[in-house]
Order: sequence, then C-alpha cells, then structure tokens
Amino acid sequence: MNKMAIILAAGQGKRMKSKLYKVLHPVCGKPMVGHVLDAVRNAECDRTVVVVGHGAEDVKTALGESVEYALQAEQLGTGHAVQQAEALLGQEDGVTVVTYGDTPLVTADTIKELIAHHVREGAAATVLTADVAEPLGLGRIIRGEDGSVLGIVEQKDCSPEQAAIREINTGTYCFDNRKLFSALSDVTNDNSQGEYYATDVIGILRGRGERISASKCKNPAEATGVNDRIALGEAERLMRQRINEAHQANGVTIIDAANTYIEAGVTIGADTVIYPGTFLRGATSIGSDCAIGPSADLTDTTVGDGATIRQTVAEDAEVAEGCNVGPFAYLRPGTKLGRRVKVGDFVEIKNATIGDESKVPHLSYVGDAIVGSGVNIGCGAITANYDGYNKSMTEIGDNAFIGSNANLIAPVKIGSGAYVVAGSTITNNVADNDLAIARERQVNKPGYADKIRARARAKKNQETE
Ligand code: UD1
Ligand code: CA
Repeated sequence: MNKMAIILAAGQGKRMKSKLYKVLHPVCGKPMVGHVLDAVRNAECDRTVVVVGHGAEDVKTALGESVEYALQAEQLGTGHAVQQAEALLGQEDGVTVVTYGDTPLVTADTIKELIAHHVREGAAATVLTADVAEPLGLGRIIRGEDGSVLGIVEQKDCSPEQAAIREINTGTYCFDNRKLFSALSDVTNDNSQGEYYATDVIGILRGRGERISASKCKNPAEATGVNDRIALGEAERLMRQRINEAHQANGVTIIDAANTYIEAGVTIGADTVIYPGTFLRGATSIGSDCAIGPSADLTDTTVGDGATIRQTVAEDAEVAEGCNVGPFAYLRPGTKLGRRVKVGDFVEIKNATIGDESKVPHLSYVGDAIVGSGVNIGCGAITANYDGYNKSMTEIGDNAFIGSNANLIAPVKIGSGAYVVAGSTITNNVADNDLAIARERQVNKPGYADKIRARARAKKNQETE
C-alpha cells in the first residue's frame, strides 16, 4: 500500500509575535516542523509533501531535499493548503496522512497506529483525536448517538453545547488519497473565519456516505499544538521530558531531569551521569561512564568514554576518553583533546590539539596550537596567537614543560622535551630538550625594604600636613 504524507507549514503564526515563521521555532533545539517530519518519516511514509508559504525558503532550507514541496502562495486555510499538494499526489492510490507543522509532539508510533486503525476499519477518513482538559481554541469532534464521527467544528463556529465537548481534533488525519482530494473540491469558506478548513473534509465525506473513523491518542500531550509562546514553552517542557526519559531508559542517570536540557539530536552512553543545570545541544555525543555537569553547556561536542566535564562551556570540540575538564573551562571550536588530558579551571582552548595525557591545569589560554603528548603547561602560561591582524600557530613537542606565566609569542615552536622557564616571554623557537629562559635576572638589595617604606611614609606625611 502506498503511504503518503502532507505536512502543512505555510502559516505565519501571528500569535507568536515573532520574526521567525512559526513552524521554524525550535523545540528542544529542532524546528517544530522538523519533529513532525521525523515522526512522518519514522512512520514509513513513502512520499512526503510539505506545504510552504510564509518563509518558504527558510522552511526548505531547514528541511532539505529529502521531501517534496508545494507552495501555498496565499494562506486561505488548512483545507486550501492540503489542496496545494494535489498536483503532486492527486493521481496516486493509497493512504495519505495529513498533519500540521505546529504539532511537534506527535510521534511515529501514533501515526503508525493511526494508519493501521484506518486500514483495519476500511475508513475513507480517520481523525486522530484526544481528550483534553482545556479544549479552548481547538476543533471539537462531533459524534452521533451511536458514537460515530459526524464532523469537526472549529471553536469559533461552536454552539455552547459543542464548546463543552472535550474530545478535540489533534490536526492529524489519515485519508484515502483520492477521496481526500475529491472532498477538498467541495470545501467552502462559509464560516466565521472565512477560511477553507481541512476539517470540513470529514463532514463532506460523511455526507457522501463514506466511513469515518476516529483514533484516540493514548497520550493527549501529543496533541499539543503551538500557536503562541505559552504553548511553545509547554511543548518544550513535554519534549524535554520525553527526551530525558528516553536517555534514562537507555541507562543514563539524570540527577534532576527538570533541570537538565538535552536537545533532540544528542546521544549519551550508558552509565553516564548528568548533573543539574546541564545543556547538551546540537549534535553533541557523550560516551559511556562519563560525569557531565553540574552546569556544563556543550554544543556539537564529542566526548569519549569515562570523561569528566564539570562547569564548562564547549562548542564544536572533541574530548577523548578519560579527560578531566573544568571546573570553569571554555573549549572553543576546533579544540581536540587527546586521551586523559586534564584541562583545569579558567582555561580557554581554541583551535588547538592537545596530545594524550597532557595537562593544562589552571589559568591558561591555548589558541591556534598543536601540543604534543605528556606536555605540562604551567599556571597562567599562554599562547599569544594574534598580533591584531594575523593568527599564528604555536607548536609544542611531546613531554615539553612550559613554566608558569610563560608567554609563547606565535609563530613559535617548542621542541619535544624542552623546558621553558617560568615567566619567560618566548619569541624564538626552542630546540628539542633545550632550556629557554627569557626574563630579567633577579637582583636582591639587602635591607632595602625598610628604606623604601620610610620614603613612602615621609611622602604621605608631607601630603597630609
Ligand atoms: C487547527 C484545526 C483544529 C485543530 C488544531 C490542532 C483547522 C481548520 N483547524 O486549528 O481543528 O484542533 O489545528 O492543533 O484545520 N496552515 C497552512 N496554510 C493555511 C493555514 C494554516 O499551511 O492557510 C498551517 C499552519 O502553518 C499550521 C497548521 O496549518 O502549521 C494549522 O493551522 P493553524 O492556523 O495553527 O490552525 P489551528 O487554528 O491551530
Ligand atoms: Ca495550530
């Protein structure tokens, strides 16, 4: 059986009061319409048409080439939007799922069940419904005395009795494809909003004597439609909970799930512990047996097994197994830490490779550098990689020792096994196993401290007289 899907994503979403088109607002890091597309795809639909209008180019950029697009130039209603897919799908036999780009919580399992129910019942149309506590603003499911679905009435067209109904239209349906497009041509805009409603297809098919069915969603949270920022916040909360529970089911310990923010694309290995206040974003991937947080904020970062990352911000970084990062480290794009590297407090690393078992324990900046293995970078040592115009590289060989507060003025190379004395400002390359010292020799003046204090005291007395 041919399975198709149509996702409506042409609306502007005025109630969002946003420059960003509604369906592109992210929920747990992914545009709403991206979640809907995932659900449709995982429900094994063979062809998917996304109806675009407002922000068409942006929506296409977000979703890519794997779907087909139909343009709804003017937003005349959801029924009119579905009709725009007719040129692409109208001649097909099979079933078509219609769903809305602003219902990000609908799952693939629910869509699969909807299709199975529809086929089992031999229906022309099956509506996915939900019983909700607060139906305000949603389409109500009107049933006859025998319980069969007669139609859907929008909030604004409801009688007081209909408004009291708690069973609502989730905005996801399954149709016989040909019957869908045939009924759409009968939809009018004779209603309080002057729109062509997709929901009217149900009543029209019913009027033609077709079989209409309803499948009730087990989890009403899936019906959450996002029309404003309040609903967006609610969708985010529900999605966050779903994501966290999926990781917990896979063996991840989350100390405080209500205070842990993991985006949709993140992977985490078993026996990793996530501490509160942690944000894991984008394509971040965490290994097994790690300890992450409290208050780690990692974006597009890969972390190997057994690593510890405390209060740290990382972006586009690679942290190999067994590393110990933080507290209060900043790993900027292009950071690559080898195995068992230590990056301690108030250390910033950018575009730099740090070899296995090297240590940058405190108060350092390492930028545009290639650091070998077994290197120790002392407290406060830095690479001076920028002259105001150019970025230059620093290379440090294996097992080199960089003393505290050294300034390595790039471009510069420190050989392997070399020793840079604390407080040195290094402008010339240092060969393997050499010692470099670049600082004034110390002078001690015996008893001079008392003399200098006396002079200072006299100056102060003079000023206050
Ligand atoms: C719609 C349903 C309502 C249901 C609710 C579930 C209709 C008439 N009403 O109401 O029964 O309970 O969803 O959340 O369908 N869109 C277009 N082109 C248009 C109009 C809308 O592509 O011309 C898209 C929007 O981008 C949006 C979706 O269709 O993603 C739904 O439109 P929206 O205006 O949000 O409908 P609701 O009022 O929420
Ligand atoms: Ca909506």
